[in-house]
Amino acid sequence: MDSKKKDVVILAIESSCDETAAAVVKNGREVLSNIISSQIALHTLYGGVVPELASRKHIEKINQVMEEALSKAQMSLAEMDAVAVTYGPGLVGALLVGVAEAKAVAYAAKKPLIGVHHIEGHISANYIENKDLEPPFLCLVVSGGHTHLVQVEDYGRYQIVGRTRDDAAGEAFDKVARAIGLGYPGGPKIEKVSREGNPNAIAFPRAKVAEHRYDFSFSGVKSAVLNYINGCHMKNIPIVQADVAASFQKAVTDVLIEHAMMAAEEFKADKFAIAGGVASNSALRKGMQQACEKQGIAFYYPSPLLCTDNAAMIGTAAYYEYLAGRRDGWDLNAVPNLKLGER
Ligand code: KG4
Ligand code: ZN
Repeated sequence: MDSKKKDVVILAIESSCDETAAAVVKNGREVLSNIISSQIALHTLYGGVVPELASRKHIEKINQVMEEALSKAQMSLAEMDAVAVTYGPGLVGALLVGVAEAKAVAYAAKKPLIGVHHIEGHISANYIENKDLEPPFLCLVVSGGHTHLVQVEDYGRYQIVGRTRDDAAGEAFDKVARAIGLGYPGGPKIEKVSREGNPNAIAFPRAKVAEHRYDFSFSGVKSAVLNYINGCHMKNIPIVQADVAASFQKAVTDVLIEHAMMAAEEFKADKFAIAGGVASNSALRKGMQQACEKQGIAFYYPSPLLCTDNAAMIGTAAYYEYLAGRRDGWDLNAVPNLKLGER
């Protein structure tokens, strides 16, 4: 018998929000292709993601993106060991496009189908460039729809330690950016403008959630920014956009880092990772790096392209699901509010 382990190559599809993405991933950590068709230009016209338009754009793009992923990897569908797809959480119409595509392709090519949780994908993005990273570790997942502190106990096994009670961190960035006239998507724009601003110019609140020390609340800081802007308008005081952006960014990242480090201490973590779109924020990365260094904790983060939505991270998560024997049936459906760890 051949003692050499067979390679596992997975075609992965992601369409949960405003990126149509497909990737080919070998053995979980080797990305052979990672194609992302962004809808940012389309949604910018409306100041945010319009779900109906997102679904329509996914329909237009998905075949082309998938074909490009296979051709860039120089592989055919027949050579895939499985087809993986994000089936939740996310925008239902957007998810349905990816799920229907993955099912059609897997059915036609007689390949196993694996549904992947979007957040599991974000967490798994850390495995791609950090070949030595293995669970257990703590992970701060900060995206446009989610803010979770997660204890990654094993591949596919997660314990949620803290979560946001209202807005996600990315959502707060997007709303504040709109309020100060920066437009969509807010995160990268706030980060850029903040470089010219004073993070200590305005004391925005750092909210605590009573009795749930690891939970987050970002609606207060968002309201504080809006109140500050209204106050300036009423008093005819000019708004220094860079100072507002930098002070807001500092308020959000301070809370994220403080909670992350509290959890690291309680869980005696020796490894800490960050994931999701907001994890590409350089102030957060720098702050987390310094805080982890101080505590002697190894700090992991994906490169920016793997922080925001992509299909490579879905292929990585799917690999570990594949090894664990997970296979989905042809009745796989989109689950817009899917909980982490739920099957
Ligand atoms: O993970 P992601 O692409 O999609 C979701 O699953 O939600 O995250 C998108 C979010 C948006 O809210 C965007 O404003 C935020 O990530 N984001 C950032 C940065 N880049 C993207 N937030 C802060 N700083 C950034 N550099
Ligand atoms: Zn995401």
